[in-house]
Order: sequence, then C-alpha cells, then structure tokens
Amino acid sequence: MKHVLVTGGAGFIGSNFVHFLMEKTDVSVTVLDKLTYAGNRASLAGMDSARMQLVVGDVCDTTLVDSLVSSVDAVVHYAAESHNDNSLQDPRPFLDTNIIGTFALIEAARKHGVRYHHISTDEVYGDLALDDPERFTESTPYNPSSPYSSTKAGSDLLVRAWVRSFGLAATISNCSNNYGPYQHVEKFIPRQITNVIDGVRPKLYGAGENVRDWIHANDHSSAVWAILDRGRLGETYLIGADGEKNNKDVIESILAAMGEPAGSYEHIVDRPGHDLRYAIDSTKLRTELGWTPDYADFTAGLEATVTWYREHEAWWRPQKAATEAKYVAQGQ
Ligand code: NAD
Ligand code: DAU
Repeated sequence: MKHVLVTGGAGFIGSNFVHFLMEKTDVSVTVLDKLTYAGNRASLAGMDSARMQLVVGDVCDTTLVDSLVSSVDAVVHYAAESHNDNSLQDPRPFLDTNIIGTFALIEAARKHGVRYHHISTDEVYGDLALDDPERFTESTPYNPSSPYSSTKAGSDLLVRAWVRSFGLAATISNCSNNYGPYQHVEKFIPRQITNVIDGVRPKLYGAGENVRDWIHANDHSSAVWAILDRGRLGETYLIGADGEKNNKDVIESILAAMGEPAGSYEHIVDRPGHDLRYAIDSTKLRTELGWTPDYADFTAGLEATVTWYREHEAWWRPQKAATEAKYVAQGQ
C-alpha cells in the first residue's frame, strides 16, 4: 500500500490517523475534507507536504471522489457529521454526508477496484442496560437511536451490501467513544475541560449515569491500521479498550485532574433519547489481528488531554463561544 485517501482527515479522529500514517508508516496520504465547522487545517499543520496533501471538497461530489479514488490504493472513510446533539437539531446534513457520501465512495472504490475501510461507531447497536452482563459484539443486531447513529447504521449496511452484491474489497470497524487531542469543543470531555479553563462549571446531562466505553484516539488509529493491513475482507471488527465509565465519574476525574473541588459541576437538561450504556467486546480484533491498546490507563490519558487543551488554546478558542451559544439556545 503506497497511497491512502483519508476522508475527514481534518477532523478529530481522521487527523489522528493521518498523524499515525505519517509517523509510523511510509505511505503517502491524500486527505479529502470539506472543512465544515468540525474540520480544522491546523490539526494537520507541520506535515511533510511531499507525503500529505489536503484536498478541500465534499465526499458527496461524485466527480471529485471518482478522480481521487482512482489514484490511490486504499480509502479510509472517516468523514461524517458526528455529533448526536446536532443531529437532533438538524438531521439533514447527517443524511447527506453519512449516507450519500458513503454511497459516492463505495461506488468509486468498486469501479476502480480499490480497497475500502469504513469507520463506524458502536452506537449502531443502540444501548445496553447498566447491569447487562453482555457487551456489543460483531453479531449484535443493529438498533440505532438517534438521527446520527441511524445514518451511520445506514452507511454500514450500504457497505455490507456492496461487499455481498459487488465484491467490494471492504472492511468495517465500529469503535467506542474516543478522547484525546484535537477533539472539537462540542464533545463531552473537551467541552468540560475548556469550561473549567474558562471558569465555567462542567455540564452533566441528567443524572450522569450514562456509561461510555472510552478509548484514546491513538489506540483507535493503531486498530484501524491493523485492520487495513491484515484484516479479512468483508469482515467487521469492533474496537474498544475496556474503558467503561459513567459521565459523572468522568466529570469528577476532569475536576480532579484540573485541581478543582469534587462536585463543582451542574446537572442540566438531558439529551432526548439519550443512550444509556455502550460497551465493546473487542475479542475478535485482539485475537485475530493481535491488536492491544497502548493507553490502558484512562486517568493518565485524561491528564495528558487536559494538558494538551491547556497548551493549545489557540487551536480550540475560535470555536468555543459559538459552540456554547448553540448549547445555550438548546437549553444545554
Ligand atoms: P469530527 O466531527 O471531528 O470530524 C469529521 C470530519 O469530517 C471534519 O473534518 C469535517 O470537516 C469532515 N466532513 C464532514 N462532512 C464532510 C463532507 N460532506 N465531505 C468531506 N468532509 C466532511 O468527527 P470524528 O469524531 O473525528 O469522527 C470521525 C469518524 O469516526 C466518523 O465517521 C464517526 O462516526 C466515527 N466515530 C467517532 C467516534 C468518536 O468518539 N468521536 C467513535 C467511533 C466512530
Ligand atoms: O460511541 C461512539 C460515539 O461517541 C461516536 O459515534 C460519536 O461520533 C461521538 O460524538 C460520541 O457520541 P456521544 O454522544 O457518546 O458523545 P458526546 O461527547 O456527545 O457525549 C458523551 C456523553 O456525555 C453522553 O452520554 C452525553 C454526555 N454529555 C455530553 C455533553 C456534550 C454531557 O453529560 N454533557 C455535555 O455537555
């Protein structure tokens, strides 16, 4: 593999994967990114321009997609509208980018016989009860709850159909909640870290009992590379690092990491349809491909993330006021 097209490579997880490719492999990278509110050129700053090129464009633009896909060996498709709260306010862009954008990419990949890897989420499986001993596996039935997760589920099903009907050389991965540097301040962990920096109390939806299965974005990238490198075509792999925590505990950990008193946060109005718990069983990925996470210690990873946001205010500050204004308008 010499040349990879990474869609959404100026976003949080996509840019992490581009950094991974530049640092750990010798492949060349073309990033296709629309630079929506969630995309940021600065997340790709300082890279060797002989090996990494950013093309600003839309994954729904079939002419552009066809031309880019025709000249690479593999596509890794991260580009998406990614935020549940936004999908509850305005679902349309989620249908366009997540469904039609995926359609454009898999059509181009099949036409040009190019390897395709599809990035997806554990949210396609719906949620679990807090006391359910089971976790999500590759055979858990799809049961998405939100406009965001239903469009991701739809895109996964398109890929599965293209594998079966057209022999598309594809793999799919469904990962749990990522944290780490370069995450937009609309998301839970960076929203609270930057609130504390601004002297604002963190905001917890509802009672805060909802559980997410946290994984460092670097571990997501190493898992995607393992699948791209040696995953079996047509297969789905779940990516997770045994990081289940409820939201209340995560806020308490952020407060502790930032030297703030325990309990200094606010309960605010809950998200409609809020999924209760996600939990990933990543046995297949670990046993078949030999992948293991490097960031087993959530507290250490969180402290490093706090330090990153303290040291990179110039990266997140331009988005902060508008993001909070949007939340205030929603009563959150
Ligand atoms: P993000 O919102 O930070 O980044 C999305 C990127 O896609 C941005 O750079 C944006 O400009 C770009 N983009 C959006 N619409 C586009 C379009 N029409 N054409 C081209 N580019 C477009 O998202 P993220 O959190 O980095 O998530 C990336 C992928 O990973 C998504 O597919 C998401 O479903 C999946 N995922 C995310 C998580 C998580 O915890 N954040 C977990 C599992 C899976
Ligand atoms: O599980 C993977 C998914 O994780 C990805 O597919 C999504 O792209 C990604 O955004 C994330 O979805 P969540 O909805 O779980 O993430 P979010 O950061 O929005 O919220 C995490 C939890 O924190 C969730 O239970 C809602 C809660 N929350 C969120 C915000 C923004 C709060 O309590 N307060 C907040 O201010």
